[in-house]
Amino acid sequence: MYSQGLIGAKTETTEDEAFLAAFQRRIDAEEKIEPNDPMPEGYRRTLIRQIGQHAHSEIVGMLPEGNWITRAPSLRRKAALLAKVQDEGGHGLYLYSAAETLGVSREQMTEELLAGKAKYSSIFNYPTLTWADIGAIGWLVDGAAIMNQIPLCRCSYGPYARAMIRVCKEESFHQRQGYEIMMTLANGTPEQKELAQDALNRWWWPSLMMFGPHDSDSQHGDQSMRWKIKRFTNDELRQQFVDSTVPQAEFIGLTLPDPELKWNEERGHYDFGPIDWDEFWRVVKGGGPMNKERLEARQKAWDEGAWVREAALAHAEKRKARREAAKMAAE
Ligand SMILES: [Fe+2]
Ligand SMILES: [Fe+2]
Repeated sequence: MYSQGLIGAKTETTEDEAFLAAFQRRIDAEEKIEPNDPMPEGYRRTLIRQIGQHAHSEIVGMLPEGNWITRAPSLRRKAALLAKVQDEGGHGLYLYSAAETLGVSREQMTEELLAGKAKYSSIFNYPTLTWADIGAIGWLVDGAAIMNQIPLCRCSYGPYARAMIRVCKEESFHQRQGYEIMMTLANGTPEQKELAQDALNRWWWPSLMMFGPHDSDSQHGDQSMRWKIKRFTNDELRQQFVDSTVPQAEFIGLTLPDPELKWNEERGHYDFGPIDWDEFWRVVKGGGPMNKERLEARQKAWDEGAWVREAALAHAEKRKARREAAKMAAE
């Protein structure tokens, strides 16, 4: 049924005009769409693709930071990082559940991820080379995630919108713990400050890529805006992220690696240099430094969890058989 891959799901839809117009009226009236409501097939598929990708990003996103849990520089840092990585696992679970309300199973979504058909945020295909990367990820990657996710709290699909409310509260803690790591390093020895600057240099551009292609090149943008799945375009969100991050970098005395970054009085926004979209597409298509390792880690986890899934199924079947036997005996 999803042979082309959820990632390639088409947003066009074949329902008749009266149905689509009635659906659009509900959207325009800011009504929430719930799992059992009639909805255009394109709406359903767009959401499955987006929520599925989002869930995969949370789960794969545990890997680069999980890499540093055993090497955190203090007990306090370790406790915060452990909690953060566990939060991301929880986000993945809410999101898989939200996608399941649209008629796709977690197994299907996982199979698509492992087969390379479903995507996850490309940012997680970069390696975490030093402890400062943990600071940079929290500050920038979770910061960018917040920009994306706050408007999703008002997404027209009820289960997704509600999941996002809690997720955003936790993301805000993630952003702060990352920024605080960067602040501590930036105020430390010259070597520590250099570590922070180096991490910022490596994570800045991939963070800007997290918002996706420019609006002029984005294939799903317009319909998602009309259906109020998205509330702001990729470029609007990216600009908002740049505008709020520049003063944060200045405050801790770090320099964003973009010589063209400059306040534009007329626009009331920061101008910034061109994004390397060749790099973006290379990483999306599997050519990033860590794509292979990330999928291998997920495959290993899936294989090693097989006995848990089998045991849970066997247990459910036993309970069912016992319930049926008890019912027979009572009759
Ligand atoms: Fe998250
Ligand atoms: Fe997060």
